[in-house]
Amino acid sequence: MERKFEIRTAQLKDAEQIFALVHLNRDQLVPRSMGNIVENIDRFTVAAIGGDIVGCATYQIHPEIGKSEEATVEVQSVAVRAPYRRRGVGRAVVEAVIRRVAPLAVKDVVVLTFAPGFFQKLGFETIEKTQIMHKLYTGCINCTKHADPFTCPEIAMRRRAAL
Ligand SMILES: CC(C)(COP(=O)(O)OP(=O)(O)OC[C@H]1O[C@@H](n2cnc3c(N)ncnc32)[C@H](O)[C@@H]1OP(=O)(O)O)[C@@H](O)C(=O)NCCC(=O)NCCS
Repeated sequence: MERKFEIRTAQLKDAEQIFALVHLNRDQLVPRSMGNIVENIDRFTVAAIGGDIVGCATYQIHPEIGKSEEATVEVQSVAVRAPYRRRGVGRAVVEAVIRRVAPLAVKDVVVLTFAPGFFQKLGFETIEKTQIMHKLYTGCINCTKHADPFTCPEIAMRRRAAL
């Protein structure tokens, strides 16, 4: 990768490339429709090189997990285009999402992932899925990949928003 990527909040014009990136990684990510991405575009952070989106990440607030005045945020849809991996793009988009949500008095950041080694490098530790039951019964329950969130091989992880 010759050119350095830029981290910025997503714009509507990025929606199509975000859709393509999430779709390309559909085996690792919860699918998102174009409509869902457009409706939630303000929550996405992207890594861009010129007009090309090479990475993305977004978040969802879960006030029901933990104390309501200390929100828990889930990092979602983390993806980097294959040729740009292992160059700090994934770390940069996840850290940018965490910085964006910090003013919301976020205490914990959680993730459900097939890439625990990556998130471990970012300070996440594995937790029991029972610690995020609300997520399982509002999000995972709608996933078409597995009948039961507890047999789904995704790993639940958590870190403090401020390290
Ligand atoms: C996981 C993914 C986002 C990582 O993106 P990336 O840009 O390659 O990550 P980075 O270069 O920022 O890596 C940060 C650190 O994690 C390490 N790392 C990256 N991918 C890793 C992996 N799959 N397993 C273990 N460690 C990994 C890097 O070596 C780096 O370590 P360092 O800080 O010691 O140098 C990317 O591989 C991807 O898009 N995968 C498919 C989608 C996916 O699985 N998303 C996560 C599900 S939520």
